[in-house]
Amino acid sequence: MHMICRQAPVIPVLVIEDLAHAVPLAEALVAGGLPVLEVALRTPVALQAMSLMARVPGATIGAGNVMTAKHAMEALQAGATFATSPGFAHSLIDCCKEHGFPLLPGAATASEIMQLLDRGFDLIKFFPAAATGGVATLKALGAPFPQIHFCPTGGISQSNAHEYLELVNVACVSGSWPAPLELQKAELWGDIRQLAHQARQLNNG
Ligand code: 3PG
Repeated sequence: MHMICRQAPVIPVLVIEDLAHAVPLAEALVAGGLPVLEVALRTPVALQAMSLMARVPGATIGAGNVMTAKHAMEALQAGATFATSPGFAHSLIDCCKEHGFPLLPGAATASEIMQLLDRGFDLIKFFPAAATGGVATLKALGAPFPQIHFCPTGGISQSNAHEYLELVNVACVSGSWPAPLELQKAELWGDIRQLAHQARQLNNG
C-alpha cells in the first residue's frame, strides 16, 4: 500500500453515476498526473466502472467505501488493485490478508490506530480528517504513533491539502475535489484534467 500512496500526492475519490463516464474520467485524471484512483462503492455501476477503468493505461484503480469481506471480494474480482475503507472490521482485514489484497483501513482515534497497529498496519486512512481535528489532530497523533503514516480523507481541498501534505506522518491525501460530480455530468474532462494537474503540483515529498 505504501508504494501506491507514494505514486501521487492526491488520490481522487470518485463517485461514478454514469458508466459511460468511467473511462474518460480515468483518462482525464491520469493525463492530469493522478494515476491512483479510488472508486467509491457507492453507486450501482461502481464495480463495472472499476473493471473498465482498470484497463486505462497508467491507472491504478482502488475500491473505496469497502466495508465488508463481500465488498472486498467483489472489488478484487472487478480488477481493483487495492481497497480502502472509512474504518475497519476484522473480517474485512482477514479477507484482504487471505487474498493478498492491499487494504488501506480507516481510523479516527488512538484506540482504533492501536487495533490496526496490532493487525500489522502502519499506513492508515485518517477519516473524517477535517471533522476529526485535521492537521492539529494528525500532529498530536504523531507523538505516540511515530511509526504510522496517514492518508487523511474528508474535507480536504486544493486550498488546504498542502497543510496536510507538509506533515511528516502524511503519505498522501484523498478527496473528491479533483473530480466533482457536476463536472462529470457536464462531461468537462478538460476541466477535470486541469484540477488533477493542479493537485499533482502539491508536494508529498
Ligand atoms: C467521501 O466520503 O466521499 C470521501 O471521504 C471524500 O470526502 P470529501 O468529499 O470531503 O473529499
